[in-house]
Amino acid sequence: MKILIIGSGGREHAIAWKLSQSRKVTRIFIAPGNAGTSQTGINADLDPENFEALRAFVIEKGIGMVVVGPEAPLVGGITDFFANDPVLNHVDVIGPSKSGAMLEGSKQFAKEFMLRNNIPTAKFGSFVPGEIEKAVDFLKQGRPPYVLKADGLAGGKGVLIIDNLPEAEAELAGMFAGKFGSAGRRVVIEEFLGGIELSVIVITDGSDYKILPVAKDYKREGEGDTGLNTGGMGAVSPVPFADENFLGKVEERIIIPTIEGLKREGEKYRGFIFFGLMSVKGDPFVIEYNARLGDPEAEVILPRVKSDLYDLFVGVAKGELASVNLEVDERPAATVMLVSGGYPGSYETGKVIRGLDSCRDSILFHAGTRDSEGRIVTSGGRVIAVTSFGDTIDEALQLSYRNAGLIDFYGKRLRRDIGFDLK
Ligand code: AMP
Ligand code: GLY
Repeated sequence: MKILIIGSGGREHAIAWKLSQSRKVTRIFIAPGNAGTSQTGINADLDPENFEALRAFVIEKGIGMVVVGPEAPLVGGITDFFANDPVLNHVDVIGPSKSGAMLEGSKQFAKEFMLRNNIPTAKFGSFVPGEIEKAVDFLKQGRPPYVLKADGLAGGKGVLIIDNLPEAEAELAGMFAGKFGSAGRRVVIEEFLGGIELSVIVITDGSDYKILPVAKDYKREGEGDTGLNTGGMGAVSPVPFADENFLGKVEERIIIPTIEGLKREGEKYRGFIFFGLMSVKGDPFVIEYNARLGDPEAEVILPRVKSDLYDLFVGVAKGELASVNLEVDERPAATVMLVSGGYPGSYETGKVIRGLDSCRDSILFHAGTRDSEGRIVTSGGRVIAVTSFGDTIDEALQLSYRNAGLIDFYGKRLRRDIGFDLK
């Protein structure tokens, strides 16, 4: 089987790395990929949102399965594009249709879906620019901190958490005025949930599902969870407080109602569902859905999956997931992200990365890297995820930090306290 993976980050490198271990996978293409994926498969310089170009490539190479990494092509309807094309509809696409991806593509849609299906989540109101007075009234009825969310995709930047009312009102006006683009003109205002976050991801064929190893990512740029939000500075799996009792609640109150709700609403959801959860005094609430694997969660989850990922994908595509076994490595895994100086603000790229070959016993997943005249250089904010196993999370982290120290590029930065809140 020839497979095309769409995307260019650490998540896509992890998917490529894992699929390359399957004897049933003959060739892996990654569009557009990075300097790491080019060691695992063949990069194709194609835009993930240019469906026509992807179509031509899939036909030319005889590709039988497409795995969609990031959200934008899913929300843009890539799965429907393939399904509705008589030449492409035999190609299996791992990722939901446009309507299924609305769980991620519209916060309002997600909140209403949860309301309909009795899934625990923060109380909310949803407003468009013409409703500013109603929106301000809603804010006034609430308590600080105020949570404001742009409705549409905003690349992880569309959520504001604000401590006082005047500032919240000002930000609300800014969002209505288009601060987060047109998809952000609708604003969801939410009750603030205090607790500890974690990521639970399932893979589903629309009727059966498998719960992947649970992970926790560290989104803030600074140690102690301070500073701006990033794409993710590191992750660990498993999450010690997510014990059997807690995960039982997650499955019963959140996963099953979500799968059943999608089914009842006629959605044939085939792919990953990411539940961004808050544990509030031991009770799980949904903060957000994503229609894909998380990044950097994928960099700790996929190494812990012992089963053949290709078999799981075939199960998803054929609606036969129940017959595929999910075997998980008991050992904890951790990943530490090396990022460019300045990230998540502006940063320089094109910096030569040294020391990759000196690393031992970790897996290096490339994110923002590219090949340049025989050298590997930086090309993004998140550069390399250093993943390790250990007998404990701490041991895994120590190994990642040791190897992270051997890698060097101008401006390299990392968080030194991944996992700090789990001790
Ligand atoms: P999201 O993009 O929806 O994941 O939101 C980004 C981050 O904002 C989340 O990872 C949480 O840390 C925080 N957040 C979002 N919604 C809430 C909420 N209702 N209460 C507390 N924190 C939240
Ligand atoms: N790490 C969170 C995400 O992928 O959205």
